[in-house]
Amino acid sequence: MFGNQKMLNLLGTGLSGLVGSRVVELNPQHQFTDLSLDSGYDILKPESLEPIFQNNPASVVIHFAAFTDTNAAWEQRGDKNGLCYQINVVGTQNIVNLCQKYNKHLIHISTDFVFNGQKQGSYTEFDTPFPLDWYGETKYQAEKIVANTNSSIIRIAFPFRSNFPTKIDLVRKIIDKLKSGQEVKMFSDQIITPTFIDDIAQGLTLVIDKQPAGIYHLVGSTSLSPYDMAKTIASTFKLDQNLVVPSLLTDYLKTPNARPYAPNLAISNQKFVTEFGFCPKNLQSSLKNL
Ligand SMILES: NC(=O)c1ccc[n+]([C@@H]2O[C@H](COP(=O)([O-])OP(=O)(O)OC[C@H]3O[C@@H](n4cnc5c(N)ncnc54)[C@H](OP(=O)(O)O)[C@@H]3O)[C@@H](O)[C@H]2O)c1
Repeated sequence: MFGNQKMLNLLGTGLSGLVGSRVVELNPQHQFTDLSLDSGYDILKPESLEPIFQNNPASVVIHFAAFTDTNAAWEQRGDKNGLCYQINVVGTQNIVNLCQKYNKHLIHISTDFVFNGQKQGSYTEFDTPFPLDWYGETKYQAEKIVANTNSSIIRIAFPFRSNFPTKIDLVRKIIDKLKSGQEVKMFSDQIITPTFIDDIAQGLTLVIDKQPAGIYHLVGSTSLSPYDMAKTIASTFKLDQNLVVPSLLTDYLKTPNARPYAPNLAISNQKFVTEFGFCPKNLQSSLKNL
């Protein structure tokens, strides 16, 4: 539990997912209501959500739900009837409409995949997005809908956490492979910004409290290549570093029909640190707390 906060009622979409479920676990002081398919709510059917928006006393809604399978999203590129566009864009529009109608503050969760990775240096909240893939495109379109309101847009990047068998994050994939003695081939010419989900949970507690309007990068304090990340993981957990082998994104991108990947996803969390006084951990400290 973070801080010494009084109990709040909160509505959330996607609270069964990789990130949302940990945010719930780490904020037991709050009463979350999960607007999930399992509980009979569907963000594509706003009429299923109307009664709870009308009757629940929550003044804040956290919108995690998304179509997050980036490879499957790429197969749907350009298809506005596809599930990716429907959930990420139409679903978000539905949540925005309901928040406005019932006067609830929206915290919308977005992604570093809105950027094309061509920048020299770290991306800030002032950089203009230019998504490369369909998942990023739909998340950017959702951001543009949300940006017309006084909502909080919280971009996260490469989230990882303690074991969550339902969905295996990149850090966990690397740990599992190394533990079973398998080779781990990772790009050495790409930069990413892995983020400990426990820090996202702590940062969101502050966002819930302050309800700021605008975009914030709630990301980890280390940007590095996936190859260096795998090496760091191996050394932290005393696993075989020789199993970590470099490969090149530039080579991968030459293969026919390659899904585009952004080369530089170094993301700055400076604005969040300055405005909230909370600094997400660097990779090594995060791994030690995993
Ligand atoms: N994971 C990443 O690498 C990453 C990186 C950057 C940003 N993000 C963003 O972070 C947020 C959370 O990601 P995640 O990885 O935690 O997601 P996730 O594990 O893939 O979970 C997706 C969630 O969305 C819900 N959902 C899907 N369709 C729905 C619908 N029609 N109605 C209601 N709920 C629906 C799912 O509920 P059911 O279980 O009921 O299907 C599930 O709880 C997303 O907005 C994502 O874009 C993720």
